Amino acid sequence: MATHRLAIIGGDGIGPEVVGQGLRVLDAVQDRHGFDTERTDYDLGGRRYLETGEVLSDDTVAALDDADAIYLGAIGTPDVPPGVLERGMLLKLRFTFDQYVNHRPVKLYPGVTSPIAGLTPQRCDFVVVRENTESVYAGAGGTLHRGTPAEVATQESLNTRHGVERIIRYAFDLADGRERRHLTMCHKTNVLINAGDLWWRTFHEVGEEYPDVTRDYVHVDAACLYFVTQPERFDVVVTENLFGDIITDLGAAVQGGMGLATSGNLNPAGDHPSMFEPVHGSAPDIAGTDAADPTAAVLALSLLLDSLGEVEAAADVEAAVASWLVERGDGRHATTAVGDRLVELVAAD
Ligand code: IPM
Ligand code: MN
Repeated sequence: MATHRLAIIGGDGIGPEVVGQGLRVLDAVQDRHGFDTERTDYDLGGRRYLETGEVLSDDTVAALDDADAIYLGAIGTPDVPPGVLERGMLLKLRFTFDQYVNHRPVKLYPGVTSPIAGLTPQRCDFVVVRENTESVYAGAGGTLHRGTPAEVATQESLNTRHGVERIIRYAFDLADGRERRHLTMCHKTNVLINAGDLWWRTFHEVGEEYPDVTRDYVHVDAACLYFVTQPERFDVVVTENLFGDIITDLGAAVQGGMGLATSGNLNPAGDHPSMFEPVHGSAPDIAGTDAADPTAAVLALSLLLDSLGEVEAAADVEAAVASWLVERGDGRHATTAVGDRLVELVAAD
């Protein structure tokens, strides 16, 4: 029987609660599909930082590196200054573990109401593939004469052929395995002429190797318009890091909100673990009240299982969520009640 080693980072606020429900669903699905998981909990996040001063030590990184995948709830507490956990933990993990793909589905499930009037599930089912290690996130740039009227701040966008090519290849491979086989590159080539040129040439060069995938291009501003007015244009969208950050939140809104948005930070080569998380935050105001919606965390579990090669288990988890979204109605549901129902649904035929 295959055993997958999972690192569990519940994190802050509602994080441990939603991940807890995900792990119950995992218990049910692994029984059915005959695999096992060995889980190690890591106490990390804002609360831990405030107590001990540790964000993410090298020892912890080394321990996490032994896992096959990382399942993350949410991190962030109100009294930790902005940037400490983002750079010190999330981005550090993405960079150290070379999680160069941020895989974010934008899928409107039946039963879910999009804020876009009249939008149907048939018209909204795509994936944004965001480059996850370069662009302005790489941290190049600096500040001079800080605090004076002559202050200068630069924040440079770093793009390498290696980095651009590998994300574009991942996107073509993904598109090639989908029904529509349509890949849209999203950039701002009319203004960002250096990075845009590298992206454009790489996109079309690599694209020659995928004759079955049709290629399209949109500027990022137009992409925002089309996400709202014509989401059916998209099947797979590949884009650079900062644009990807912005348009995936728009995508989350279009498909019914943060309560359903999931994110996989992937290392496709598998030389370090990938990390899976619901996109929502730690919601400290409702922590501990059994009010958080664990649905996105359970969808993140589905992405995690898929990356481990447990494709049928992943599909079962997604199908359970899809059924739940149809039957749940408009009312509010307790965290544990949603978990109970999802466990029943994955255990049923
Ligand atoms: C995301 C988040 C992160 C990002 C933050 C928390 C650093 O917004 O995963 O989309 O900007 O990538
Ligand atoms: Mn974001």
